Amino acid sequence: MPELLYLNGEVMPLAEGKVSVEDRGFQFADGIYDVAAVYDGVPYELPEHVQRLFQSAAGIELAIPHTPAEVEGIARRLVADSGFPQCIVYIQVTRGHARRRHAFPPEVRPTLLLYVREFSGHPPENYTLGIRTITVPDDRWGRCHIKSIALLANVLAKERAHRAGAYEAIYYSPEGLVHEGSSSNVFCVLAGTVTTPPLSHKLLPGLTRRRLLVLAPKAGIPVAERELTLAELKAAQEVFITGTTSEVMPVRQVDDVIIGRGAPGPVSQRLRGLMLQHIRECCGGLRAPAHQPA
Ligand code: PDD
Repeated sequence: MPELLYLNGEVMPLAEGKVSVEDRGFQFADGIYDVAAVYDGVPYELPEHVQRLFQSAAGIELAIPHTPAEVEGIARRLVADSGFPQCIVYIQVTRGHARRRHAFPPEVRPTLLLYVREFSGHPPENYTLGIRTITVPDDRWGRCHIKSIALLANVLAKERAHRAGAYEAIYYSPEGLVHEGSSSNVFCVLAGTVTTPPLSHKLLPGLTRRRLLVLAPKAGIPVAERELTLAELKAAQEVFITGTTSEVMPVRQVDDVIIGRGAPGPVSQRLRGLMLQHIRECCGGLRAPAHQPA
């Protein structure tokens, strides 16, 4: 079964896709993207991902030459035709290819691509043991609410984390406020309240974050969106990250500080269970059994 690519109206095996070297995504990172997870062949919260794609596009004054329903339709067809039950759909739109100049070219057709990649989940021990994280000063641009393909700062932060034997890098401001991870949102449990920084241009409005802020109160778990200091994060009872592929992933260490008992805490585990239950309700299935709570 090939991993399929849709590129400007044509479908082909992913390995056969080609774009111009003067594509503005390639030369200027002039584009936006989104990623949705697929469980049991069903994309999870696809309309929400597509809606965010259009918001990101509007944020860089890029008009996508399709309706959200059309993009959704392309994604669903690609997932169905690829036949992978567990995969991700990556969607990217760039301003298109044109002779290199910084300002928007007068006539340019956006490059729209979507592809499916098989994905069976992160290592199970990330969930059973919890992950290690490091903290890094936020050196990204000032519009992190836009899901831009300009991810160099995120790439460098993640690499720094991996070299330190950690899974994720958590960004903080010069004032010592927590923003988010290099590819995730950050939560902690403070006096029993699930706490996460408020939406702003400092972080991506994560869809997993948003879902969790709905699921937790329904289950009687209090939540708060408020500014969070690094000191609070390190002193929290529990810390976890959220993301489309990570789902709810417990954190056992932040820099050299062990969180709680150094193992996934009860609230994180409960929230992960609620999240997986919601995914199962929407999609009918989950990833490998190793990724499901006992
Ligand atoms: N990353 N913050 C950043 C910087 C991210 O890149 C992501 C997701 C998130 C979580 O958002 P969501 O819950 O909607 O996935 C937060 C995706 C998965 C990626 O770049 O692969």
